[in-house]
Amino acid sequence: MSELNNIALKIIDNGKGILAADESTGTMTKRLEGVKVESNSENRLKFRHTLFSSKSMKACIGGVILYDETIKQKFSSKKIPEIISNAGAVPGIKVDTGAKVLANSPKEKITEGLDGLRDRLKDYYKLGARFAKWRGVYIISNSCPSKIAISTNAHALARYSALVQEAGMVPIVEPEILMDGDHSSEICLAKTSEVIKKCFEELILLKVDLKGVILKPNMILPGTKSDQKISSDKIAELTLKCLMENVPSEVPGIAFLSGGQTEIEATKNLDTINKKNKSNFIMSFSYGRALQQSALKYWSKNLDDIEGTQKIFNHRANMCSLASQGKWSEQVEKN
Ligand code: 13P
Repeated sequence: MSELNNIALKIIDNGKGILAADESTGTMTKRLEGVKVESNSENRLKFRHTLFSSKSMKACIGGVILYDETIKQKFSSKKIPEIISNAGAVPGIKVDTGAKVLANSPKEKITEGLDGLRDRLKDYYKLGARFAKWRGVYIISNSCPSKIAISTNAHALARYSALVQEAGMVPIVEPEILMDGDHSSEICLAKTSEVIKKCFEELILLKVDLKGVILKPNMILPGTKSDQKISSDKIAELTLKCLMENVPSEVPGIAFLSGGQTEIEATKNLDTINKKNKSNFIMSFSYGRALQQSALKYWSKNLDDIEGTQKIFNHRANMCSLASQGKWSEQVEKN
């Protein structure tokens, strides 16, 4: 077993998943202002530290994705990556520098951040990071994602992955197809399949060790403006079909993004996927909003109510952990 494979398993095996707390300062500001909390570095740290020091970290969270600001912060003179490691989780770092307008297909985006990445990875390794994240983002419309978006983003994800492994870390490969649009789940299946297939073609071409990679995909869902009603069973069936057909068997696991689903939807769908999963892939979570939303809303009412906020986060983390083992139910959700 390679060292990278061991790290990947530590992050997502045994009922654990990833807390995606890597919102850029711009995105975190939107989240905080959305609940009427001032976005300054102290408040961002205070909320995040509340999550990182929660009781559920040990059993439920195998990895935390951090943003550049947070990985360099301290809380009560303790370094944040150290706090995360002490809670039994692996510190990770978002290393892309965001999605920019794609030349010759201006409605679409290409993720940037490759220049200087080798040196930045060395610094992040020294700070304690053992895995990294890079998000490619795609839209669905008649002509999108275009071949240009599919091939340029796959190439960037592969170049990033090769550099991350060279630095001794596990790359999270995140091709996110947005839920926006009126497309059906069948279209989402076809487009997501094409995107994931191309990502692995590029990863293989660049000799990335697939045993040391975690895929972070979207689930297969109808667009948010579609009037198609779809059951959790159908979502799980289509999602599993997409992954079985397009992810090489060497990949140890998959950690879904929540992508705008509610906390309950993201939990229930992950649970159904695991109840139906007959493959060897671990199917876990790498949730941002679906782990933090209720906790953030509660915290915004009283920034000093750490215990109450943690109680809400602990419940969510427990529910996601159960779902990653196919052991969640509406009954346990209510208890
Ligand atoms: P969401 O679960 O809120 O989609 O965030 C996950 C993430 O890291 C997106 O890049």
